[in-house]
Amino acid sequence: MNTTTTSIKGSALTTFIGGLAVLLIVLFLLVKLATTGYSSEVADMTPSAVETRIQPVGRLQMGDGTPVGEREGVQVFNKVCIQCHGADVNVAFAPKITHNAEWTARIAKGFDTLVNHAVNGFNGPDGGQMPARGGDTSLTDDEVARAVAYMANQSGGNFTAPAVQKGDAAASGASAPAGQGAAANGEAVFNKLCIACHAANSAFPNSPKITHNDDWAPRLAQGRATLVQHAIQGFKTMPARGGDANLSDADVEAAVVYMANQSGGKL
Ligand code: HEC
Ligand code: HEC
Repeated sequence: MNTTTTSIKGSALTTFIGGLAVLLIVLFLLVKLATTGYSSEVADMTPSAVETRIQPVGRLQMGDGTPVGEREGVQVFNKVCIQCHGADVNVAFAPKITHNAEWTARIAKGFDTLVNHAVNGFNGPDGGQMPARGGDTSLTDDEVARAVAYMANQSGGNFTAPAVQKGDAAASGASAPAGQGAAANGEAVFNKLCIACHAANSAFPNSPKITHNDDWAPRLAQGRATLVQHAIQGFKTMPARGGDANLSDADVEAAVVYMANQSGGKL
């Protein structure tokens, strides 16, 4: 009699403790699930994710002694793109430089789209394959953009390439007024629109706040072209063009540059 009671009590206790343990595990997993949901994937700091982001700027020189990031469009073209886009080269579907007819439809897509395709790679409808960065991972986004502008402008286009920033001397000379104009415009767009969610004291969830360099560091690592593209097309809960469909690409870009450069960036 006694033994039966003890064993019944014992098994009830075991069930109770077992149930408690299961409940705790479930709670733990739920909390973990909920908290991991809050960190956006751009904040992913695994070694391979970080390596991938810093890779283009991590390499040093091109062989002609020009520092990474400062190479002009013509240099990049003659070293890399010419293999497939040279005037007398025949790679299926690759538009050849100075063959304007082959470029008309490409140029009509707009500079940002072409740069995006050249940076990220692009498979044409007929099977042509443009490799990301022309296959040279040492090229920065701006260097690829300069090469796109160079090629397109030799072939009937009229694009403005991102200026080469040479150390501290970048803001001197004739380029200064243009740079200041863009900065002023970016500030105006920011104050009118982006400030709603990107103000330093904004409570909007997940948005990188201006002057909060830590918020911006993982964003900046994506490169200017990607940031501008995300701001134009929208990105997760970030609305396209900050919600103003009438804002021009150039104005969105100026606002991105303004925000980023107030927050540790050098775009
Ligand atoms: C290995 C060959 C190859 C190299 C190297 C290469 N490209 Fe391309 N590129 C192509 C091909 C093929 C296409 C056409 C894809 C299609 O539309 O079918 C293309 C298309 C493009 C386009 C047009 C994309 C569009 O949306 O229509 C741009 C811009 C471009 N390349 C830029 C570059 C730049 C800049 C470089 C050098 C950094 C470069 N390419 C190097 C093969 C190459
Ligand atoms: C309604 C709120 C809202 C407005 C207005 C807004 N943003 Fe954002 N923005 C966000 C949020 C939220 C994110 C973060 C999205 C994420 O990563 O989850 C973001 C992210 C960004 C990013 C980083 C994208 C990336 O790839 O990491 C850029 C750049 C940006 N916004 C630019 C702008 C610009 C420029 C404007 C004004 C023209 C603007 N935003 C207006 C909410 C807003």
